[in-house]
Amino acid sequence: MEKIKVGIIGLGNRGKGMSMLVAEHENCAITAICDEYQDRCDDMKEKVAPLGHDPKIYLNYEELIASPDVEMVFVFSAWENHVPAAVASMRAKKPVAFEVGGAYTIDECIQLCEAHRETGTPAMMLENCCYGRVEQTLYAMNDDGFFGEIVQLCGGYNHDLREEVSMGLVNRHYRHRNYRNRNCENYPTHELGPLNVLLGIGHGNKFVSLSSFSSKSAGLDTYIRNHPDRDQTYADGKWAQGDIVTTILTTEFGQIVRLTLDTTLPRPYSRGLEIHGTKGWFSQENMSVYSDADHKESDHFKWKNFWGNYEKYEEKYMPKLWRDYLDAGIKKGHGGMDFLVIDSFVQAVRNGDPMPIDVYDSAIMMAVTPLSEQSIKNGGAPVSFPDFTAGIEQRKSADGKYKLF
Ligand SMILES: NC(=O)c1ccc[n+]([C@@H]2O[C@H](COP(=O)([O-])OP(=O)(O)OC[C@H]3O[C@@H](n4cnc5c(N)ncnc54)[C@H](O)[C@@H]3O)[C@@H](O)[C@H]2O)c1
Repeated sequence: MEKIKVGIIGLGNRGKGMSMLVAEHENCAITAICDEYQDRCDDMKEKVAPLGHDPKIYLNYEELIASPDVEMVFVFSAWENHVPAAVASMRAKKPVAFEVGGAYTIDECIQLCEAHRETGTPAMMLENCCYGRVEQTLYAMNDDGFFGEIVQLCGGYNHDLREEVSMGLVNRHYRHRNYRNRNCENYPTHELGPLNVLLGIGHGNKFVSLSSFSSKSAGLDTYIRNHPDRDQTYADGKWAQGDIVTTILTTEFGQIVRLTLDTTLPRPYSRGLEIHGTKGWFSQENMSVYSDADHKESDHFKWKNFWGNYEKYEEKYMPKLWRDYLDAGIKKGHGGMDFLVIDSFVQAVRNGDPMPIDVYDSAIMMAVTPLSEQSIKNGGAPVSFPDFTAGIEQRKSADGKYKLF
């Protein structure tokens, strides 16, 4: 079977790891790589050589996309480059997969959808958490009616990034300039992707409004002052990004989604998923399930009796995708989900199947960022949520339910 000729844009921390998964993929031949930094290109070329790849180096992503030696594009670059690179790839008729992150403007989300509508070129956001083992099991529980009707969902990007952000200039990392200059829900997709699957957002259900609230910014200043080995230039009280951003979205079917961004205070990692349904409840913070089926009303005071009981539900509900994957041996990268998301894109392109996470799914997730920025500036005032899928009926199945997975 002929391999697909792949071009890769963005060879920073994430690009390095993801490129190696692409390099190991049996259907991919890396023919071109690109970064703004020559040294990152040189390092990558050296790393993929033992796997039989001999990519040409580009410092300009548009030239990589235009190359006749590139048939398909992966974008692992910083947030600012996702939409320009994805749109350019679609316009060049080259299927493209791009990393996660919020948009900067609603217009960018529209551009993404328009480029796809006008060219028909497949494009997918690589939202790996949609493929997580827990998330996939929760989809199966939901499909089985375990939670009843979902009324509220919560999620978060709760990840202590103080070192990454504060050392961003030293390490040439994109988060630094974003945290200096913007205050918003800057990274909604890891939790929102799975929540949107559970609610069918963009597939019959839709968001109606969004309100966002930001705390002050105090975490980074304190951290830098307490760590003399960090870049001291920026303990100056001038970080724009608030430490905690809480965002509330409402849906057409009367549900609420609550997102939390918590990246500049001390805390353990969590995507904080919570499901509140008419028949059951789940909390990722302590991996617990509570349901009318398995618990009595008197149990609700006895939290600790069922803390950590999720595993027994996983035994029952874990879907085939993950059972097969565990049997075959999980590959590296965030507990295995990085390979799953890359592979699902490659297979969809090869088979001409719809993109598992298409431009509309992506635009909905990415739009949260500019909308939250606008709402925060107006003291949390609700803003209406644009309907990127208006008039695209084929996204609904006959029973009104659409299954992404
Ligand atoms: N899905 C996940 O689990 C996950 C994990 C980490 C990072 N990410 C995502 O990966 C992306 C990159 O993150 P990172 O930590 O590697 O950042 P990074 O700053 O280390 O690397 C980004 C790279 O993109 C390059 N770049 C930026 N603009 C470019 C352009 N116009 N042309 C060519 N190259 C360009 C930069 O030079 C840099 O090398 C981000 O979107 C981030 O959200 C996803």
